[in-house]
Amino acid sequence: MSVNSIGFIGTGAISEAMVRGLLAAPAYASEIYVSPRSADVAAKLTRDFASVRIANDNQGVVDASDIVFLAVRPQIAEGVIRQLSFKEGQLVISVIAATDRETLLEWTSGSVQLVQAIPLPFVAERQGVTALYPPDKGVAALFDTLGTAVQCESRKEYDLLAAASAMMSTYFGVMQFTTTWLEKSGLENAKALAYVAPLFASLAQTANKPGVVSFGSLSREFATKGGLNEQVLANFEKNGGRDALTAALDGVLARIEGRGH
Ligand SMILES: NC(=O)c1ccc[n+]([C@@H]2O[C@H](COP(=O)([O-])OP(=O)(O)OC[C@H]3O[C@@H](n4cnc5c(N)ncnc54)[C@H](OP(=O)(O)O)[C@@H]3O)[C@@H](O)[C@H]2O)c1
Repeated sequence: MSVNSIGFIGTGAISEAMVRGLLAAPAYASEIYVSPRSADVAAKLTRDFASVRIANDNQGVVDASDIVFLAVRPQIAEGVIRQLSFKEGQLVISVIAATDRETLLEWTSGSVQLVQAIPLPFVAERQGVTALYPPDKGVAALFDTLGTAVQCESRKEYDLLAAASAMMSTYFGVMQFTTTWLEKSGLENAKALAYVAPLFASLAQTANKPGVVSFGSLSREFATKGGLNEQVLANFEKNGGRDALTAALDGVLARIEGRGH
């Protein structure tokens, strides 16, 4: 266990995942305070963990906690954060998307130690990779407990990883396109799911092994010269697959950097 108390302003999906990861044995915090909104999630957490308490209000979370997570939606963040009065130098970790450091510091009056992070739902099983900015050893240790932390030296690095995190839906989309094609071609749905999920799981595990320095070399390793894998990749590229992905990442980065939608 590394810290006494951690608080969450906003008890939604990502806060629930972080609380579950932080309190998995051995617990990382002795007490966790959550805000009373989203009463069902808050109540579920207090049922599952003796060390979770529901604060009376958002200020109650800040007052009771050494570290405060900001985890509300961007649209309401300003109204929520401006009402809070933080302790001098308090560690505040914002996971709020599309809200930059300068803006958050202005809303928090600038007296806090602010770190931004992009946790992913897998933190609930302590398997997530979390980008954080600016680099901070303590916050990196917290997210290393929830999987692995990647510390970004610049806002550019952080924004680039935020763009990469937007690949999650497309990953499952590729699985769905494959499954739909199998079904349309005559395979029953259950068999398609039973085949595609372990296939992608094995590939992801292979990519995540220590010592892998390039996914390109894995791609070549899995493509026999003149074979089926080589054919699919060549077709994907020829028909604009790579270009579509590159354009999608460029577009999402522009949105993250506030240059467009
Ligand atoms: N989900 C992810 O995988 C993920 C990953 C990284 C970052 N994020 C970011 O994390 C933030 C939260 O995302 P989420 O997916 O957890 O959203 P969510 O499930 O909608 O959770 C937001 C929570 O904020 C609560 N809330 C609303 N008004 C509030 C107030 N005035 N004071 C305190 N809490 C209030 C909501 O309560 P009610 O339900 O009662 O309205 C809800 O529990 C977003 O900025 C998102 O971009 C999410």
